[in-house]
Amino acid sequence: MNASHDDERRSGQFGHVPVMARRITELLAPALTRPGVENPVVVDATLGAGGHSELMLTEFDSARVVGIDRDESALDIARDRLARFGDRISFHQSRFDGIDGVLAAAGVDHIDAALFDLGVSSMQLDRADRGFAYAVDAPLDMRMNPDDELTAADVLNTYSHGDLARVLSEYGEERFAGKIASAVLRARESEPFTTSGRLVELLYATIPAATRRTGGHPAKRTFQALRIEVNHELDALRLALPAALDALAVGGRVVVMSYQSLEDRIVKREFAARTRSTSPPGLPVELPGTAPVFRLVTRGAEQAGEAELAENPRSAPVRVRAIERVERNRS
Ligand SMILES: C[S@@+](CC[C@H](N)C(=O)[O-])C[C@H]1O[C@@H](n2cnc3c(N)ncnc32)[C@H](O)[C@@H]1O
Repeated sequence: MNASHDDERRSGQFGHVPVMARRITELLAPALTRPGVENPVVVDATLGAGGHSELMLTEFDSARVVGIDRDESALDIARDRLARFGDRISFHQSRFDGIDGVLAAAGVDHIDAALFDLGVSSMQLDRADRGFAYAVDAPLDMRMNPDDELTAADVLNTYSHGDLARVLSEYGEERFAGKIASAVLRARESEPFTTSGRLVELLYATIPAATRRTGGHPAKRTFQALRIEVNHELDALRLALPAALDALAVGGRVVVMSYQSLEDRIVKREFAARTRSTSPPGLPVELPGTAPVFRLVTRGAEQAGEAELAENPRSAPVRVRAIERVERNRS
């Protein structure tokens, strides 16, 4: 990493150390330093506080970044942090599955790399009023873009038992989804849910104590499920990955950092499909037009090492996968 002490001090002002910064830079380097590519374009699909973008702009001094975040307040922070890079970076408020529209607005027809650092930022977690954290009593909001309509309170107060149980079970992998949904429906009859404290109390009362000892904080899975539902997080990822891969030039790379197994499964499946030959199995040679157009760069999912974990506990759940385009089309 070539970041100077000045750069490190500036980053320190924002208090957010980007997760696995060095490894992410290494994974992107071959795509952003290809001979003959003068000004490679990298999409930071989850700009957040701009930590990874700052590194990319510093490390790859001819690269341009197209920065996307659905949260305007994240964009404001990133604009401030990255102002010194001038027009090497553009800022776009969008869900990342709007990548095609963003690229058109940025005047870009193909990209050399894309980075997805999924989930919420520590800024969003730290701001109690956004309602992402269960450790403080705060409004049940959880919208990454506060202009969106649906809040976590709406989900709790309006969903049917079946829909609520499905959300908790699918997105939270919560064993007690049905029981929790019943308790929520009973509780909302007397008064609608407005703040997280009441939900956390209900979860403590509903999830058996024995499970609590092994299953982590009783609110963890329910909060994850509500957040995914409110922000359509998995749909956005399912749509954005193919769009980013289709926009990639030969030699370009996409790197994805997932923080829970549902996201990582989507990435794993999409990458597997893209790196698989479509020749019928058992043939001695690959049929023309069936060779894969992509290759996996990472073997399985990479995790943070011990030094990173000690420095940055937020990196504990991260799973990193990278893929490279090797051909324009199936040949
Ligand atoms: C973990 S943070 C990124 C941190 C960033 N890499 C850094 O170094 O500062 C994730 C960011 O992605 C944004 N985000 C999450 N899902 C998104 C989506 N579907 N579309 C656009 N932005 C999204 C969140 O608002 C948040 O700011």
